[in-house]
Amino acid sequence: MYSGLKHAHSGFRWLILVLLVIAIVNAYTKWKNRSDFTPKDKKIGLFTMIFCHIQLLIGIALYFMSPLVSFGEGFMKEKVTRFFTIEHGTMMILALILITLGYAKAKRKTDASQKFKTTFIYYLLGLIVILFSIPWPFRSLGAGWF
Ligand code: HEM
Repeated sequence: MYSGLKHAHSGFRWLILVLLVIAIVNAYTKWKNRSDFTPKDKKIGLFTMIFCHIQLLIGIALYFMSPLVSFGEGFMKEKVTRFFTIEHGTMMILALILITLGYAKAKRKTDASQKFKTTFIYYLLGLIVILFSIPWPFRSLGAGWF
């Protein structure tokens, strides 16, 4: 169970990154081209947000299973334990709040170009936070590329 969730969580990152890039590029180009907001645009933003939420749920489940999460003595002094116990989850939840807020705010705008602009800004901020909070192999946190 733990191993399966860990692999799913690790692989899911790529799906989320691809979806976020698609949603951001779509919002930016249509904002600049003053395009109409179609149901397809709504779906792109919605699916991206839903997949980010699925990743959040897997992450929360992992939080209760992972041996890398510990509040034992001196855990803040140990780089890997501190990262997975405090930093990773907190920053990812912040990213998820930004993306969810972006989706909700864009939905309430009446003007198409404002919808695209709002999606673009919030999803981009969310992507930046996610990129900084992934335990990439070069950060020496013991995680891999997949
Ligand atoms: C967009 C959101 C997220 C992304 C892209 C993401 C990505 C990742 C990646 C790439 C790993 C390394 C997996 C490996 O190869 O070993 C990882 C590990 C982990 N993540 Fe996330 N994560 C996200 C959200 C969360 C959240 C919200 C939590 C908890 C509240 C969480 C908890 C964990 C834990 C506990 C591990 C360590 C698993 C282990 O190796 O034992 N993640 N995450």
